[in-house]
Amino acid sequence: MSLRLTSRIKLNDGHLMPIFGLGLYQAAASSKTTQIIADALRLGYPLIDTAELYQNESQVGDALKKNFDREQVFISTKLFRTNDGRQGLRRSFQNSLQQLVTDYIDLYLIHAPQGGHVLEVYREMVALQKEGKIRSIGVSNFGVQHLEWLKQAGFVPAVNQIELHPWWPNEDIVDYCRTNNIAIMGYSPLGKGHFLNDPYLIKLSGKYGKTPAQILIRWSIQNGFITIPKTTSGVERLKENMDVFDFALSNEDMKGLADYGRKNLQNTGWDPTMNSKEKFGPI
Ligand SMILES: NC(=O)c1ccc[n+]([C@@H]2O[C@H](COP(=O)([O-])OP(=O)(O)OC[C@H]3O[C@@H](n4cnc5c(N)ncnc54)[C@H](OP(=O)(O)O)[C@@H]3O)[C@@H](O)[C@H]2O)c1
Repeated sequence: MSLRLTSRIKLNDGHLMPIFGLGLYQAAASSKTTQIIADALRLGYPLIDTAELYQNESQVGDALKKNFDREQVFISTKLFRTNDGRQGLRRSFQNSLQQLVTDYIDLYLIHAPQGGHVLEVYREMVALQKEGKIRSIGVSNFGVQHLEWLKQAGFVPAVNQIELHPWWPNEDIVDYCRTNNIAIMGYSPLGKGHFLNDPYLIKLSGKYGKTPAQILIRWSIQNGFITIPKTTSGVERLKENMDVFDFALSNEDMKGLADYGRKNLQNTGWDPTMNSKEKFGPI
């Protein structure tokens, strides 16, 4: 099947999810961010990824108020801390709904296995899903052991959002997710911009007549990762980052880039995927 901006994948709960969208980490809580989100939606970005932590859910809400059809936009947001169990979750969730000016969230994620009480929170998310307030339940920064602990309790999330680019391929988690039918959402697909001047990437950029950012986004999409590059620089970069559906990397270059990254491993943010059982909480 050829990949398009409008392509969606079927999650394990039956809902459809776009394969591409705009990430909002470190996008300021400002009218400029509201404008960028509105510009992205106008250009056809089908998915917006925000989080309680990013403090810009209300900019997403403000952008949505600008005459966009809520049903046409897929919103993912994240609970930052599980520390306060089910009550904390209900509080945070209600606040997210209010900021986003919506009565449901397409994909609600636990941001990381870090505050304990993960199972208690997950159970409450299932209750919210039954109430029709969450369409799909996901997790983020969950390693194989965390996913296994969930599975032992009878839960398989629809999505796991983890750092993914050639320099941080997280292969064990990717394999686990594929085997267990968990959709893989890759964050920091541009490695936060750190690798864009890498000579290997520059060479591929010349070969395909595409920018280094476009090569990386395409690499993610061709791997089957849901991809959410962030930009707040302006419309030109929004357009550049979505203009990745008119070419394909050869199998040889997909593998070449993966092999190259694997030899130079480097993550660009935090990595809670090995967090202890204490941080996960009782099973
Ligand atoms: N779950 C988690 O723990 C977690 C962690 C990190 C990220 N995320 C999610 O994943 C999203 C993407 O990751 P990220 O924000 O860390 O990094 P990223 O998307 O890999 O890179 C963003 C950086 O690249 C720059 N950039 C964007 N497009 C560019 C282009 N075409 N050419 C050159 N530079 C470009 C951006 O600058 P400008 O803004 O100035 O364009 C920004 O500095 C986040 O926004 C967030 O939604 C989730």
